[in-house]
Amino acid sequence: MTNKKNPGDLTEVLSAAEKIYRPSKKIISQANVKDYEGVLKQAAKDPLAFWAEAAEELEWFKPWHKIIDISHKPFYKWFTGAKCNLAYNALDRHVKSKIKNKIAILWEDETGRSRSYTYLELYHEVNQLANALRRQGLKKGDRIAIYLPNLPEIAIAMLASVKIGAVHSVVYAGYSAMALAERIKDAKAKILFTADGSFRRGKAVYLKEIADQALKECKTVKRVVVVKNSQAKIKLNPQIDIWYHDFIKHEPTEAACAEMDAEDPAFVLYTSGTTAKPKGIVHVHGGYMVGVFRTIKWVFDLKGEEIFWCTADPGWITGHSYIIYGPLMAGITTLMYEGVPDLPQPDRIWRIIEKYKVNILYTAPTLIRAMMKYGTSWPAKYKLASLRLLGTVGEPINPEAWKWYYKYVGKNRCPIMDTWWQTETGMHLITPLPVTPLKAGSVAKPFPGIIADVVDKKGRSVPAGKGGFLVIKNPWPSMVRTVFNDPARYVKTYWREIKGRYFTGDVAYRDRDGYYWIQGRTDDVLKIAGHRIGPAEVESAFVSHHKVAEAAVIGLPDAVKGEVIKAFIILKQSVSPSEDLKGELKAQVRKTLGPMAVIKEIAFVDKLPKTRSGKIMRRVLKAEELGLPTGDTSALAS
Ligand code: WT7
Repeated sequence: MTNKKNPGDLTEVLSAAEKIYRPSKKIISQANVKDYEGVLKQAAKDPLAFWAEAAEELEWFKPWHKIIDISHKPFYKWFTGAKCNLAYNALDRHVKSKIKNKIAILWEDETGRSRSYTYLELYHEVNQLANALRRQGLKKGDRIAIYLPNLPEIAIAMLASVKIGAVHSVVYAGYSAMALAERIKDAKAKILFTADGSFRRGKAVYLKEIADQALKECKTVKRVVVVKNSQAKIKLNPQIDIWYHDFIKHEPTEAACAEMDAEDPAFVLYTSGTTAKPKGIVHVHGGYMVGVFRTIKWVFDLKGEEIFWCTADPGWITGHSYIIYGPLMAGITTLMYEGVPDLPQPDRIWRIIEKYKVNILYTAPTLIRAMMKYGTSWPAKYKLASLRLLGTVGEPINPEAWKWYYKYVGKNRCPIMDTWWQTETGMHLITPLPVTPLKAGSVAKPFPGIIADVVDKKGRSVPAGKGGFLVIKNPWPSMVRTVFNDPARYVKTYWREIKGRYFTGDVAYRDRDGYYWIQGRTDDVLKIAGHRIGPAEVESAFVSHHKVAEAAVIGLPDAVKGEVIKAFIILKQSVSPSEDLKGELKAQVRKTLGPMAVIKEIAFVDKLPKTRSGKIMRRVLKAEELGLPTGDTSALAS
């Protein structure tokens, strides 16, 4: 275990004896990028030329006059002067070619329903929705909140929003009413997309009810568009609600695409940090499309014919970039599965791969570990020969899970792309390419054009094998542009910790071969099943219960989920602790944040370790819990 607050104190961890997994001749011969080291060198010499060349592969309404404008750094601008549209590149341009008859979206859900859309069909429906949105009065820059499950309509709503130049804010459908309300309010969204209901583990979830509850506090929303997805009997309020199918019914299937400035925002996506208020991460049209397009094509070696399955939810950045925008820009088939991996049996993943002949599977360590628990007999029953490449993302993958994935899913012939990136980076930043020799558990090297480093508190590079803060030294096109409505927070969070460097918030080390090994977060941000959860958000959910005086939460290691939560609670005077109360408090967190915040344990305590200024030192709780050294406790109040 490392001391994350003082990564310079790490004991040396050297990657002396690990095995190297080399790509087969076949992988190398078909790779889009064959000369890995050569491309890295070339891009490092002139990253801007590298990105300009990548940008040329997309369509622009008007060319840029500058690749980058650094005059207001850290508010970097890319492709200034250019006009473009992300949705145009994902859809409209394909309709001019024979790609139009190809399947764009294949969809299946837990209950066995399935649907598909060709590029042309998707284009027509996006246009209908774009027209309906315009008729509703939505314009460039207006915010559109989307609270939908993993349905084709979530992609359609996102694309239509981007097409008219509005800014979407997708809120993961597992979030509770309060979390949804907070995000809608921050973005001042004018319209909300939701569904009547969805299914999770065979259980109906009534999304519209949750949305209605959230909307009690959100006065900016004037219209709610409801996708019919279940048999739920719900009542629509004609003043504000409308069925999605009625909303688009009479609309024409052609719609003009808004010509956007390369730097106009395309979407905002909220993510947790160290304070209780989530940050609205802003991504723009031009740079985002360039970064996502180049990475998906190179990392997953796309030829244009693939069936690509990313198991994330569209409500997270992985879904935005690599379920929707990336695959569609690349003109391939993206598979969307709405459901859990083990229903009706723990073979669902393997069954889907065989059924649709999936070529690339992009998933998360937590899912791999869950599948490992069920055993190798499940994947062994299915034909997985269509698989060519595998991917993982979201949290460090333990070498055992990596090797299991490699052997039992990839049958020792599919390279695993362990892609390190963040909501803020928009695209993969540290990742192998298919031709890169791999080490189980390492994210390999920075993508071409990216210059990363591992540094101490003062920003000095640390030697190989020493832990430190992971930073990025140069800007990249799909980087976060600002925090919505809070540019000061953007500067403070990402650019103040280490001068002149983008601060990732992660601890990592580099081995002697220059391979990166990610060790986790430097802050107290939790990673539960790969989802980022802010401890302060969980604590404030506890404290919103009338019997709670104070709360502190920490992450405990979990074999499947990566981390789960332990909470330390001080009750109000005269409240007595009980098992029932623990249940009540767990329910409270679920109600406030949603089921992702998995509370494993609650301990009632009389006192919490605090600094003299009253800040709770979660690090001390964690060290005590796990039997680790507490590190520097000089700030601790006695
Ligand atoms: C954090 C970002 C963008 C992907 C989904 C998560 C961790 C992400 C890896 C990886 C080790 C990883 C980092 C990062 N992380 N990918 N391949 N290996 N750690 O997005 O919620 O914005 O979280 O996820 O800690 O900072 P996110």
